[in-house]
Amino acid sequence: MISQYNIVSDYHQLSSEVAGIVSTQIKEHPLSKLCLPTGSTPLGMYEDLVMLELDWRLVITFNLDVYLMNVDHPESYQSYMKKNLFDSINIFPINCHFPFRPTSAFEDKIAGSMGIDLCILGIGTNGHIAFNEPGSSFKSRTRLVDLDEQTIQDNSRFFDSVDDVPKQAITMGLGTIMESKKIVLMANGKHKREILDEAMYGDVTEEIPASILQEHDNVIIFYCD
Ligand code: GLP
Repeated sequence: MISQYNIVSDYHQLSSEVAGIVSTQIKEHPLSKLCLPTGSTPLGMYEDLVMLELDWRLVITFNLDVYLMNVDHPESYQSYMKKNLFDSINIFPINCHFPFRPTSAFEDKIAGSMGIDLCILGIGTNGHIAFNEPGSSFKSRTRLVDLDEQTIQDNSRFFDSVDDVPKQAITMGLGTIMESKKIVLMANGKHKREILDEAMYGDVTEEIPASILQEHDNVIIFYCD
């Protein structure tokens, strides 16, 4: 049961609400461990976070997922994070983690940091969270995955052509994400409404990975048209 499903008026409010939650987390707990998303939806939140000029010196971040590609490529999630957040705040690069292989070592890093305090998520049009595509086990951990055809099509807008979209990724698992103490999911656009409602109010099924969030006791959803 999702306790908080907020429909906000516009993208500006979506971004500032979630940035506000991140800001409160960091101010109240300077040693916070955050799990961070990529994609188009969180871009406004990152802009707001940069403007807030928070003190990130003790914060540790874990990104949800990475494409299996050259990390220096402009569309790699490592490049995305540098460009949209890390290069503009006072976080230490050594505290910014991305999924890597062996994936068990990445899991050990999360466990060694005593777990994630706040995880920010987006949602794919097929109901994926991170790169946990439909059919992913609810118990899954960080691992190498093949991307769904739908995800490749959706993400082709960031590349010159659909053939340039990486076909594989390393993603945190659903089991890994569910261990976060608090989760905030942000969704932007009418094309996300149906899958979001199905995930939040429909059956909890591995065919809709985001539906697992119904079983977490501290999830907040923000949606705007
Ligand atoms: C991407 C990412 C997800 C993200 C989702 C939605 O493929 N791996 O973490 O939440 O798709 O992206 P967007 O916000 O661009 O719609």
